[in-house]
Parts: sequence; C-alpha cells; structure tokens
Amino acid sequence: MRNSIPLLCLLLSLPAHAAGDPKLGKPLHEKQCVACHVKLLGGDGSGMYTRKPRLINDAVALGQRVAACSSQVNAGWFPEDEANVAAWLNQTYYKFK
Ligand code: HEC
Repeated sequence: MRNSIPLLCLLLSLPAHAAGDPKLGKPLHEKQCVACHVKLLGGDGSGMYTRKPRLINDAVALGQRVAACSSQVNAGWFPEDEANVAAWLNQTYYKFK
C-alpha cells in the first residue's frame, strides 16, 4: 500500500499542470490577437514573440500574459481558451518546458 502514495500525489497534481491544446488555441489567437501585433510590428506579427529581449521568459509568465491580454481585449475567453492559446504560443514560439 505504501507505494500508492506517490501515485496519488501525481494524480492530484495533474489538473494544476493540465496543458492546453495548441490546436484549439491557434484559431483563437488568429482571431483575437494577431491583428494588433501585425499592426505594431508588420509581417505576420510573430516578431512579438521572437524579439529580443522578450517580456516573457517562462511558461507561468506566458499563461499570465495571455490571460491579461485576453481580458484587456475582452476576448471573452474561458480559462481553458487561455490555456490553449498559451499552449499554442509555447509550442510555436517560446518552447518553454
Ligand atoms: C491592441 C493591441 C494588442 C492586442 C489586441 C493584443 N496584444 Fe499582445 N501585445 C501588444 C503589445 C503592445 C505588446 C508589447 C508590450 C510591451 O512591450 O510592453 C504585446 C505583447 C504580447 C506578448 C509578450 C511578447 C513577449 O515579449 O514575449 C504576448 C505573449 C502577447 N502580447 C499575447 C497576446 C494575446 C494572447 C493576445 C490576444 C488575446 C494579444 N496579445 C492581443 C498589443 C496587443
């Protein structure tokens, strides 16, 4: 029975780390976020995420930034939408672990 304790901890910690789905985040980002970044930077706007130095340097900050931006622009996203967009940005540009 002793062995079951670490497993339980692992299971309990999963929801907190539940990663978003990048495939679902991509269209949301295109719809609500890209235009303004393009207007600012030109190209496809991705320079916002690849510039040096970038504002965002870890996955937690990325999640917070996506949440802050989505509320600023009244995107009407749920937390899982934000997680999906953060996951897409991370997979595509930031590549944080
Ligand atoms: C009205 C214009 C505008 C809209 C809309 C917008 N952004 Fe931004 N975004 C900015 C600006 C300006 C910055 C740079 C802020 C700075 O340098 O302090 C930025 C920076 C960022 C960064 C940080 C880039 C870095 O340096 O690593 C992220 C991430 C980001 N935006 C995500 C989003 C997401 C997600 C959305 C859609 C919900 C969004 N933005 C919508 C203007 C916008």
